[in-house]
Parts: sequence; structure tokens; C-alpha cells
Amino acid sequence: MALTVLILAAGQGKRMNSDRPKVLQPLGGRPLLAHVVDTARALGAEAINIVYGHGAEDVQAAFPDADLEWTLQAEQLGTGHAVAQALPAIPPDHAVLVLCGDAPLVAPESLESLLKSVPEKAVGLLTARLVDPSGYGRVVRDDTGRITGIVEERDATPEQRKLDEINTGVMVLPAQWLADALEKIGNDNSQGEYYLTDVIALAVAENREIAGSAASDPSEVLGINDRTQLASAERIFQRRNAQRLFDQGVTLADPERFDLRGKLDVGRDVFIDVGAVFEGDVVLGDRVHIGPNAVVSNSRLGDDCIVHAHCVIDGLVAGPRCEIGPFARLRPGVTFVEQVKVGNFVEVKASEVGAGSKINHLTYVGDSSVGRDVNIGAGTITCNYDGANKHRTTIGDRVFVGSGVMLVAPVHVGEGATIAAGSTITREAPAEELSIERSKQKSVKGWKRPEKTK
Ligand code: UD1
Ligand code: CA
Repeated sequence: MALTVLILAAGQGKRMNSDRPKVLQPLGGRPLLAHVVDTARALGAEAINIVYGHGAEDVQAAFPDADLEWTLQAEQLGTGHAVAQALPAIPPDHAVLVLCGDAPLVAPESLESLLKSVPEKAVGLLTARLVDPSGYGRVVRDDTGRITGIVEERDATPEQRKLDEINTGVMVLPAQWLADALEKIGNDNSQGEYYLTDVIALAVAENREIAGSAASDPSEVLGINDRTQLASAERIFQRRNAQRLFDQGVTLADPERFDLRGKLDVGRDVFIDVGAVFEGDVVLGDRVHIGPNAVVSNSRLGDDCIVHAHCVIDGLVAGPRCEIGPFARLRPGVTFVEQVKVGNFVEVKASEVGAGSKINHLTYVGDSSVGRDVNIGAGTITCNYDGANKHRTTIGDRVFVGSGVMLVAPVHVGEGATIAAGSTITREAPAEELSIERSKQKSVKGWKRPEKTK
């Protein structure tokens, strides 16, 4: 049967206590719904239809993709009502796979095996056995083990609450039959909602086959209703990321203190210390070492680069054997050719730095081109901003800049030039010459330090 994936994402998520629609809460730096959409795409369905409602504009704006169909559920009257809104747009001969926008960890493999196990025209249910089933709808079976219905926890008897087999919220149903069934369900329950789960009892009454398939990993089925569950899901998600990296030969000092909010490509024998956060697209070459508490976004680090503790790196392209930090801040638009050293309390922005150059302490380099084998002393500042416009600084190969130098841009320092410490350079510093800009030192003989008055 042709397949439509229907994602329920209209609910507010009251238990999140948030101004943000629940399905836009982030997991691994992306909205919950984005993970579910990825999973839906992996199934190769004919159509993906999202039921939206609460925070409608924001939710739709977060997914501009052309392959998605949208169904507005203006009033959220329950999961059954949500599905009913979408059915007119779904061809009657399709199977409908219902996914919840708040269950982002379900693996495509579990859904594929559910779809395979369900005979044509039957109803399929993804279930799970949980150590703590509280909060979920329970799967009720008769003495012979046949599914007879689903009961929500709030509507369950104390006996039913003891059942540990839960409804994950994932179901596959024939569209035509589903449309008829949804017309028959009511809202006579503790929440006054139209429950999708009530169609199961209807199927039983009609002797329609119900195929239950258990999720291979119970951690997949976590539905996120509150912040505690969001945090649990985040750890499960990050543990999966960590596992993938372990399989690729990465050492993580502690997989529980590792956060990937994007995509990380790694070479061989990479080491990542505790508390590192990776965002966007990051590529690490062979043997890269990432120190503790580094934040690395949208960057490429070549083989054997070392990032020491507490660095914030965004948009860096570094060749091999560079050494960064501790406490360095690299802002977008920086290129290090190779073996560049940038030390503590150094900020670099929109600059190229040549091979072997060193900027070791307390320095700002912005809008600059720095040649190879340059040494920039502590406390140097490229003064790139005149209050209205930005200007460039160019520094030739083998330049030595002493400590405490102001390079007032636009300015050029020629190859092999030396700049004396404490100079404020406003004009070109010629190649191979010493440029010095300082007032003459004087010493006052017999000068007495003031003493404290009593
Ligand atoms: C639902 C199931 C429960 C199951 C659990 C799995 C029902 C009645 N209950 O409970 O059996 O164990 O999921 O996590 O189906 N939504 C809409 N429109 C609505 C109501 C909900 O789109 O009118 C969406 C929500 O945005 C959410 C999903 O449907 O993504 C599930 O709704 P939620 O209120 O979280 O249901 P649960 O109480 O978790
Ligand atoms: Ca839920």
C-alpha cells in the first residue's frame, strides 16, 4: 500500500510551561519536529502531512521545505480530531502512519519493521514495555493475549495502570477505514478529547486484525511532555551521537558530557575532552585534540590540531598542526594556514594567518592578513574600526611585532619588519626596518614617592 506519514504537532505542550510550541523545543540543537520529519523522510513515503495548530505561524516557518503538506487543526480537540482534520487530503487507498511530533527518538528501523509486520488492511501498533510506564496509554490485552484496546492513564483503572505495555503513539491504519472509525469515536473521557487510541477498540469490535510490534529499544519511544523528559531525551540523543563517534574510533573523555548540536565529521584517533559543544557543521582531521569546555561551531580543523581548554571557535578553517588556547576566541572568517599558534586571551576575526605564525597572548587581530613566521607580541591590537568604518591591516612574512603595539588600520607592515614594543603605528612600517614610535624615556633623580598622610 502507498503510504502517507501523518505527524501530529498541533498541541501546545502545557506541561512544558513555555511560550514556545512544544514541537519547536530543541533536541540536539534542532526542533523536536525536525527529528520526526527526518525519520518520516527516511521511510520514503508518498506524502508527509503535518497537523499543526498551536503556534501555527512559528511552526510552519521553521519548516519551509516543499515536500511537506500541512493540515491546520485550529482547535486542539485531541489526537483523533487531529487525524480527522488531515484525512480529506489523504488518498483513501493509502496506509496512514501516525507519528507524534513530541516523540523524536523513534528509529526509522523500528517503523520499517512495524510497516513490514502489518498485513494489508490491518491496524498496526508500535508498543513498548517500560520499567516506568506512567503517563502513557496502556495496551490492554485479553486472556489469549489479543489486543483489545488502549486506555489512557487518566482513564485507566488501578489494575490497568499496573500494565507495563504502552502505546508509543505510533500507529499504521488504512485511510478509508480510519475515516469511518473516527466518525464513531466520542469524547467521553477525563480530558473531553477525541482520542485516536479509541479506534483500536473499534477495530477489535469489527474483528479487524491488530498487529502489535514492540520497539527494539524502549528509549526510542520517549514522548516529551515536560522539561524533565526533554532533558532525558537530550541525553539519549547525545549518547547515540557518542556511540556513533566511538564506532568511528573517537575517544570521548566522558560520553555523558558530550554535546553535538549539528554534524561532526572526524578523522582517526580524535580525542574530545569533557564539556565540549559542537554546533553546525564541524570537521576534525586525524588526531585532533579538543580540550575541556570548548565550543566549536561551523569549523574545519586540520590533522594534529590542538585546542586547549575553554576556547570558543566559530567559522575557523585551520590547516594542520595549529595550536589554539587556552581561552582563545576565534570569530567567523578566520583561516590559519598551518602550524599557527594562538594563545590565551587572543581574539581573531576575519583574518588569514600564515604558516608558523604565533599570536600568543592578550591580542586582538581583526580584518587582517598576517604572513608566515610572524610573531605578534602580547597586548597587540589591530585597531580596525575608526568609529564609522572597518579597515584592514596587512603584515608581511617574518614580521616581529613587540608587545603592546597599536596597529592603526589601514596600515601595512612590510616583510621582515620589526615593530618596537609600545609603538602606535599609523603609517607603513617598511620591510626589514625597525619602526619605533615612543616618547623618550626620562628618569627623575631624587624623586620621592608620596607617603600616606596620618
Ligand atoms: C498520547 C497517546 C498515548 C501515548 C502517548 C505516547 C492519545 C489519546 N494518547 O498521549 O496513548 O501513550 O501519546 O507518547 O493519543 N496533538 C495534536 N492535536 C491535539 C492533541 C495532540 O496535534 O488535539 C499532538 C501533540 O502535539 C503531540 C501528540 O499529538 O505531538 C500527542 O499528544 P499529547 O497531548 O502529548 O498526548 P499524550 O498525552 O502524550
Ligand atoms: Ca505526548
